[in-house]
Amino acid sequence: MSRFVVVLGLQWGDEGKGKLIDHITDERVMAVVRFQGGHNAGHTLVVEGKRMVLHLIPSGILHPGVRGLIGSGVVVSPMALGADIHTLAENGVVDVHERLCISPACPLLLPSHEALDQARERRGSGGNVAIGTTGLGIGPAYEDRAARRVLRIGELRDPVRFRSQLSQLMDYHNFLLSSYYHAPTLDIDEVTDHCLAQREWLLPLLSDVSQALVELRAQGAGVLFEGAQGALLDLDHGTYPYVTSSSVTAGNAASGSGCGPRHMDAVIGVVKAYATRVGDGPFATELVADSPVGRHLFERGTEYGATTGRRRRCGWLDLVALRRAVQINSVDGLALTKLDVLDGLSSLQLGVAYEGTDDDVNATPQPVYEEWPGWEEGAVAKAQSAAELPLAARRYLQRIEEFVGVPIELISTGPERGQCLIERHPFATD
Ligand code: IMP
Repeated sequence: MSRFVVVLGLQWGDEGKGKLIDHITDERVMAVVRFQGGHNAGHTLVVEGKRMVLHLIPSGILHPGVRGLIGSGVVVSPMALGADIHTLAENGVVDVHERLCISPACPLLLPSHEALDQARERRGSGGNVAIGTTGLGIGPAYEDRAARRVLRIGELRDPVRFRSQLSQLMDYHNFLLSSYYHAPTLDIDEVTDHCLAQREWLLPLLSDVSQALVELRAQGAGVLFEGAQGALLDLDHGTYPYVTSSSVTAGNAASGSGCGPRHMDAVIGVVKAYATRVGDGPFATELVADSPVGRHLFERGTEYGATTGRRRRCGWLDLVALRRAVQINSVDGLALTKLDVLDGLSSLQLGVAYEGTDDDVNATPQPVYEEWPGWEEGAVAKAQSAAELPLAARRYLQRIEEFVGVPIELISTGPERGQCLIERHPFATD
């Protein structure tokens, strides 16, 4: 029986979705689908001690025979896509071209989108504050999509028309860059020639992702929908305006890939055992970076952004925000990652309420904490099942489950590929 499972982050991204998806991709899974975001995502995988980061291509591609689908909700930079293909080839995955399928309707992310993103961040965007974006052009590309002036990848099929349309769009971008941001402009011919030079390898990858999903369903395939970023960065439901520019929620797994919403069978929410955030914006349970626990989380968790290398802000798990993320995504089960990072802390805090606010995650309220005992060094990595975890860790997990109302089904206990306890596999149908 076919099973379509959505996996998404429930915090501010970097929850360890890539590793988790890699782990649960087994013989039942025939395809992994990206449905939003762009190369602002950075899915880190550690395979045989080697660290690899994929930005656009779904992580499941590391499994032989598994197809990678990129739905029309994803903004695609051909350069970033080429870099992912190169990373994979370096790691011995050489048949990506046979397994990758990109919707021709994906908005084309241009170097001028990147230039606009960076110019705007430097200046503080049109009347707004700087967001601390990844600076990769994601926001400007989505803006052009909404304004109906973006070029779509499929338009590369007609080079003459492409040249004329790109020239108009880049005229506009250059006008903004020079007249509004006082930033350098880009050479239109150079960008056009560069885009057209990608046709040879890019065009054969384009096909109807929506139709591919219909066929996969008919074949009884297991399919994973891989979210990027996290619920608190959602354009509508996140900590606006400090959010990304796409809808990252489970609902968009359907529209961003071109699949009917009733075909999604389950939603797995990925959450770190604590919390991190890169970029600006409210973070109620944030710890001071050089406090003992702040340093512990940062160092043990190697908390650097996978895409930008920026230091991640670290803090305690915020159960109020997590419960809301569970609700807006109709999460069925949680995957808790990086539990081992909490090893050796004498006590732990869980954010369980906000002082003086009405559970508003968009403000930076004062959190109310509950204190829980910690556990000894090395205890988490040793466990072969959740039952073998130290008692204090089990209590911590139970409190999370009880507060947010969904079970923890997977627990990641270390960075290596196999270090994951599966209490219930997302493809189990019983
Ligand atoms: P943008 O997506 O580059 O526009 O950045 C908007 C906000 O989302 C910034 O705070 C970024 O740091 C954050 N962000 C975007 N992608 C990711 C991600 O994959 N992980 C974590 N944060 C992200």
